[in-house]
Amino acid sequence: MSKKILLSGVKPTGRPHIGNYFGAMKQFVDLQNEYEAYVMIADYHALNLIQSKKEMEENILGVALDYLAIGLDPEKVTIFKQSDVSAHTELAWIFDTLTTMPYLMRAHAFKDAEAKNKDISVGTFNYPMLMAADILLYDADVVPVGQDQKQHIEITRDTAQKFNNTFGEVLKLPEHIILDEVAVVPGTDGQKMSKSYKNTIPLFATDDELEKAVMGIVTDSSAGIPINVYEMHKLFRSEEELKSLYREKEGKYKELKEALLTDIKAFITPLREKRAELEKDISYVTKMLEEGGLRANAVAGSKLSQIKKAIGVL
Ligand code: TYM
Repeated sequence: MSKKILLSGVKPTGRPHIGNYFGAMKQFVDLQNEYEAYVMIADYHALNLIQSKKEMEENILGVALDYLAIGLDPEKVTIFKQSDVSAHTELAWIFDTLTTMPYLMRAHAFKDAEAKNKDISVGTFNYPMLMAADILLYDADVVPVGQDQKQHIEITRDTAQKFNNTFGEVLKLPEHIILDEVAVVPGTDGQKMSKSYKNTIPLFATDDELEKAVMGIVTDSSAGIPINVYEMHKLFRSEEELKSLYREKEGKYKELKEALLTDIKAFITPLREKRAELEKDISYVTKMLEEGGLRANAVAGSKLSQIKKAIGVL
């Protein structure tokens, strides 16, 4: 029996944080044997934010290294750059013609962006159409993501449905995989961990960065437990172990933060070492992306032909 298909990705907008890791990237690794997996570097999505050649190049390479360092196996997973597969932007245009502006104006990400800055790019507005194309070109069954991407998967399903109603059954409706315990990983201030809130713990942080971030966690407490410390600690230790530790050290916030710091370091150090090792052979990484791009192009190209036939242009 052939395997079900997984597709997901990360935007190369800077260093990924432990929210990205636990919310999504870890699932890519955990599911890589069970699914036929496609894992993207969503560089054209990042272009809405990153408009510097140097930064874009560094970030793309950075995410490729991150993927390998956390344990994605390029023998099993097609790791590729979105911009290497032009079918994505081509299909996004087709979807643009089917989707209405009022529908896209209801998207949370658009509303948030517009609330901050009225001058948003057309690319920010159209973001969900490119994401729908990313997913639907591979007939993905599942898309592992964090909670903040849930609406994008719903928009993807609506778009597929609309296409199928108009042109016949061509597109497969995907399901999201969102794990409850890590759907919204909190940052150092207790809000959702996010680069834009400056409350992150980078996945490959140095020891100094880790110490600064962990010691800076806002210690709002409830019944003697520093909630933000505890919530983050849950990512690294079972609740059973934590309960006795937090009981034993009730009210001793500094010691609890130190215990968390030790656990984060124990987790991050081997990842950091593996990444440093990989950095010594960048040509391996670029070759892997090239090969991934070829494989992705073959799959996406044949799906796009099917789509073009259905709409009457091929
Ligand atoms: P991005 O790059 O913003 O984030 C990558 C993944 O990390 C998850 N995430 C979190 N999960 C839990 N807690 C948090 N605090 C947290 N912060 C981020 C995100 O939900 C995401 O799963 N649009 C996507 C990239 C993308 C994509 C796709 C994903 C482009 N095309 C196709 C899946 C399928 C994004 O901006 O993710």
